[in-house]
Amino acid sequence: MLKITNLNSGYGKLQVLYDLSIEAPGKGITVVVGPNGAGKTTLMSSIMGIAKVISGEILFEDVPIEGDLTHNLAKKGISYVPQMGNVFAELAVSDNLNMAGYLMTKEESKIKAEQMLEIFPVLKKFYARSAGTLSGGERRMLAIAMGLMKNPKLMLLDELSTDLAPIIAEKVMKEVARMRDELGITILMVEQMAKRALEIGDTAYLMVSGEVRYAGKADDLLHEPELCSMYLGIKAGSEDAIAEIEKPSTEGSE
Ligand SMILES: Nc1ncnc2c1ncn2[C@@H]1O[C@H](COP(=O)(O)OP(=O)(O)OP(=O)(O)O)[C@@H](O)[C@H]1O
Ligand SMILES: [Mg+2]
Repeated sequence: MLKITNLNSGYGKLQVLYDLSIEAPGKGITVVVGPNGAGKTTLMSSIMGIAKVISGEILFEDVPIEGDLTHNLAKKGISYVPQMGNVFAELAVSDNLNMAGYLMTKEESKIKAEQMLEIFPVLKKFYARSAGTLSGGERRMLAIAMGLMKNPKLMLLDELSTDLAPIIAEKVMKEVARMRDELGITILMVEQMAKRALEIGDTAYLMVSGEVRYAGKADDLLHEPELCSMYLGIKAGSEDAIAEIEKPSTEGSE
């Protein structure tokens, strides 16, 4: 679905990504993890035409999309939920959803917004309230709902769990898995909550200093204790890591 080959990109004269190759296969969750400043958001920005692509190829459904405007990418079926500033704080929840449905007819947008309220009942409660008064978690749900409003084939999610209480983050993760399982959406997600993301993910990439350090199955990365403890804060010896490492199914590779 999304295929990035030998991407070099950055901002102005600053190169951030080096020779990066990443694939997000259809109807799967591809997780990108890595330390702060590794270039994860820059990867998203490069796909969305915000960061400068120096060289390399970005194909969406086998068609190059480098240089496309955000508006065109939305039309092609790509939704981006950025790391920050992803709702219109002064507008009501309802208006935020309507704005997100701008490419549809009024009727379509209305039906879609109703679907969103079913998926995220919490938004129903606050439908008429301005988005700026929502809690962090509620705001993220609204941001995801706005992304989903566009009926995307591919969703780019940048650190949904940041600043969320663990219980809310867990809920958001479950919704992401549901988007894949029930709506068949392809997801490319960047996550700080590495362990949980790798558990729901299918394919994973570990990025360090603008380069890919690991590419493979998401579950397999959890069984690389050195990479996990060095870059992801998943400590070998912690209860979680031991539970993961001792799973019987992890003997050898499948
Ligand atoms: N708009 C920008 N202009 C110049 N440099 C930038 C810009 N955005 C990011 N950078 C730099 O690019 C590098 C990678 O940043 P990026 O935001 O992609 O990292 P990240 O992996 O998303 O980190 P985090 O986990 O903290 O979100 C950093 O050194 C950062 O300072
Ligand atoms: Mg980032």
